[in-house]
Amino acid sequence: MKLFHLFPVLALFPFSLAIPYEEYILAPRTRTLYPDSVHSSNGSVSNPDSLTASSGSSVFQDDSATAYDFGKNIAGLVTLTIGSVSDGNQYIGVTFSESSLWVSNRSCDATADAGKDETLWFKVTGPGTYTAPREKERGGFRYMTLVHNGTGSVEVTSAEIHYTPMPHWEDDSLANYTGYFHCDDELLNRIWYAGAYTNQMCTIDPHYGNALVHLREINSSVSDAINVTWWSNYTITNGSSALVDGAKRDRIVWAGDMSIAVPGVVASTNDVITIQNSLNSLFDVQNATTGQLPYAGRPFPSILSFTYHLYTLIGVSDLYLYTGDIEYLSSLWDKWKLGLSFSLSFIDDSGLMNVTSPNDWLRFGMGGHNIEANSILYYTINQGIMLAEALNDTESTVSWQTTAERIKIAANQLLWDETAGMYIDNETTTLMPQDGNSWAVVANLTMNSSQIDRISANLAERWTPYGAPALEAADAISPFISGFELQAHFIAENATAALELMRLEWGFMLDDPRMTNSTFIEGYSTTGELHYAPYLNDARISHAHGWATGPTSSLTFYVAGIQLLSAGGKTWRIAPSLGDLKFTDAGFSTSVGFFSAKTQVSDGGVQIDFQAPEDTTGEVRMPSMGCTGQILMQEASGRCEDITIDVTEADAGPITVAGVAGGQWKATFSCD
Ligand SMILES: *[C@@H]1O[C@H](CO)[C@@H](O)[C@H](O)[C@H]1NC(C)=O
Ligand SMILES: *[C@@H]1O[C@H](CO)[C@@H](O)[C@H](O)[C@H]1NC(C)=O
Ligand SMILES: *[C@@H]1O[C@H](CO)[C@@H](O)[C@H](O)[C@H]1NC(C)=O
Ligand SMILES: *[C@@H]1O[C@H](CO)[C@@H](O)[C@H](O)[C@H]1NC(C)=O
Ligand SMILES: *[C@@H]1O[C@H](CO)[C@@H](O)[C@H](O)[C@H]1NC(C)=O
Ligand SMILES: *[C@@H]1O[C@H](CO)[C@@H](O)[C@H](O)[C@H]1NC(C)=O
Ligand SMILES: *[C@@H]1O[C@H](CO)[C@@H](O)[C@H](O)[C@H]1NC(C)=O
Ligand SMILES: *[C@@H]1O[C@H](CO)[C@@H](O)[C@H](O)[C@H]1NC(C)=O
Ligand SMILES: *[C@@H]1O[C@H](CO)[C@@H](O)[C@H](O)[C@H]1NC(C)=O
Ligand SMILES: *[C@@H]1O[C@H](CO)[C@@H](O)[C@H](O)[C@H]1NC(C)=O
Ligand SMILES: *[C@@H]1O[C@H](CO)[C@@H](O)[C@H](O)[C@H]1NC(C)=O
Ligand SMILES: *[C@@H]1O[C@H](CO)[C@@H](O)[C@H](O)[C@H]1NC(C)=O
Repeated sequence: MKLFHLFPVLALFPFSLAIPYEEYILAPRTRTLYPDSVHSSNGSVSNPDSLTASSGSSVFQDDSATAYDFGKNIAGLVTLTIGSVSDGNQYIGVTFSESSLWVSNRSCDATADAGKDETLWFKVTGPGTYTAPREKERGGFRYMTLVHNGTGSVEVTSAEIHYTPMPHWEDDSLANYTGYFHCDDELLNRIWYAGAYTNQMCTIDPHYGNALVHLREINSSVSDAINVTWWSNYTITNGSSALVDGAKRDRIVWAGDMSIAVPGVVASTNDVITIQNSLNSLFDVQNATTGQLPYAGRPFPSILSFTYHLYTLIGVSDLYLYTGDIEYLSSLWDKWKLGLSFSLSFIDDSGLMNVTSPNDWLRFGMGGHNIEANSILYYTINQGIMLAEALNDTESTVSWQTTAERIKIAANQLLWDETAGMYIDNETTTLMPQDGNSWAVVANLTMNSSQIDRISANLAERWTPYGAPALEAADAISPFISGFELQAHFIAENATAALELMRLEWGFMLDDPRMTNSTFIEGYSTTGELHYAPYLNDARISHAHGWATGPTSSLTFYVAGIQLLSAGGKTWRIAPSLGDLKFTDAGFSTSVGFFSAKTQVSDGGVQIDFQAPEDTTGEVRMPSMGCTGQILMQEASGRCEDITIDVTEADAGPITVAGVAGGQWKATFSCD
């Protein structure tokens, strides 16, 4: 009889490992893609709609063009199949754009500081297939325009894209996520999956990074050019995949961008090898004498950035936290310590690091005793102490501890403005930056929780209808720094503020018609214009930037509340912070195993069903229900004894249950 019951179940779920909430995953299920719909058509073009299928017939006569919409941001190589032609001297051009703003029959959007990228032309001599050369892979586009020039006619029977992101994953497995998220707010669900997809778009074959042909060569004097050359053919890392800043550009490795992208990758695809390839490429070009790490990976010129140098070190500690891979950590440890020494050598008598190079995330005024850079340094030193303990190499930890304490004291003496309730950028200014204030909270540079609350409240005060402004970058909204601001609101225990900011800023980025409805943009202005202060060229802005994916990890780690505390999850914390939500369900896998937490809030209490691998231990933070009652925790296998706690004060706050063994638990807090 048991078999009889199993059958209908198997028939309903044909895949042995169903992926939860798979319908939200934006990654294509095949690498062969066709346009979704026609955006616009000009001149004499027959049946443009027919090319939304694998086989059609659309005849371009004389000067004519059709712009196609793929419905989401994609990337890859175009192949056109040509049917009949009027003669052997015809041309079909192809242009690409991420935003509808730059759809054109004359040029692509841009990858350089000025002008627009040239059209990809095919000389059509007769029927057959015409495939773009490999260096003409386009890394990000939602729109593709086919152009015919001159006189005569060309019949196109298919316009196909070979999708190239996630090159190291099987063609039919691009949606095989190891993590998932769901809650009772559809916008937040879409935001989580768009973040995950953005990071997949930024995971490229390292042989096809941006050649940066025109770096520092093109300027505003050629701003009208529509013929800027572009090639994606520079080898940026070893291995078969690399995590880059942006899908369209720069297509090179930037450690700062990784600091937001990597936690999102872990929460969704756990694509560890790509993270390693990318980090390795930065350590490969470390200066062996000074320890200085690059601002960005090759082919970017060797330049010092105090913060991106530290972000590379943070990349290593992040990867250790998410994998527990002590061998990989050991392999980089000497270089890591040399890198930290390099930063420590810039600490002066004040106790703070004096930043002598302006390069950061393209904010302005990075220099001197900068609060962001010193917060990141404080954070990195503490990461170093954690890593040193894991490696039993504690020779330097006492000195690092002393240095870190001095940074904290000095920063609070010199840079905290008690009246305003925020940190100033450095001692010579009244500007209170978003990056430094967010980072001070994230790094625990603050001395007390009242500072955290005030920073959170003051940052929230500044929001415009389009998101959280970064005053340190003129009129920019930075989805990168806003990712750290989200973390600051969670640390301030104001999940409601963090969710509000996600809906405001990431909701705008998803739903505005100029965006891709699938990936997150690099930056824009406080008034909602798609102008990013550091760039002259609006067409250059990347619409798929991994640094803009902060909500993906924040929703999993803070809202659903699954936190890894050490070594791939050997120790963990379950601490849901639902804000105004009533339901969350999230999970992800690391090499240590599978972690999940499903939380349901009702008037009578809260129930958390969570799972953590055996041989791990953790703690559970039951959210306060504002009532007295009883907490009951039961483990499904019966290996562990039930845990009961009487809550006798309604305002007791969240209650932490420590020393919980891995297993499949049901935890309830029932109000009396
Ligand atoms: C068609 O022309 C309109 C108006 O000039 C333009 O906005 C649009 O981008 C053109 N589309 C194509 C595919 O040429
Ligand atoms: C069409 O464009 C191609 C590529 O730029 C060019 O070589 C050709 O001369 C153009 N044809 C006409 C008739 O303008
Ligand atoms: C990916 O998912 C597809 C569809 O669910 C499944 O057929 C395939 O076996 C999976 N691939 C891997 C590598 O897990
Ligand atoms: C590119 O266009 C500019 C005008 O915008 C022109 O001066 C230049 O010669 C063109 N270059 C090429 C290679 O066609
Ligand atoms: C990239 O492609 C261009 C155009 O084909 C070529 O001139 C250049 O040498 C290539 N660069 C590399 C690094 O292969
Ligand atoms: C390393 O840094 C030192 C000091 O700035 C410099 O002289 C040297 O050229 C650098 N080495 C490399 C390989 O860049
Ligand atoms: C201090 O901060 C202000 C505001 O960001 C900036 O204009 C100034 O250049 C900074 N000072 C130094 C030494 O970098
Ligand atoms: C930081 O170092 C630079 C270069 O040595 C120096 O000019 C500047 O005065 C220093 N800034 C501070 C705040 O000490
Ligand atoms: C560090 O020491 C502990 C206790 O002696 C040991 O269990 C662990 O394996 C050591 N770790 C490393 C990386 O050597
Ligand atoms: C923050 O730093 C203080 C020491 O200044 C320390 O007592 C506290 O445990 C730290 N908090 C966290 C969350 O690490
Ligand atoms: C949380 O932030 C919101 C602003 O988004 C604010 O209205 C509210 O007062 C804050 N709550 C607390 C407890 O600070
Ligand atoms: C945006 O994408 C979602 C799927 O993620 C879809 O349901 C929605 O209709 C799209 N919105 C627009 C305006 O196309």
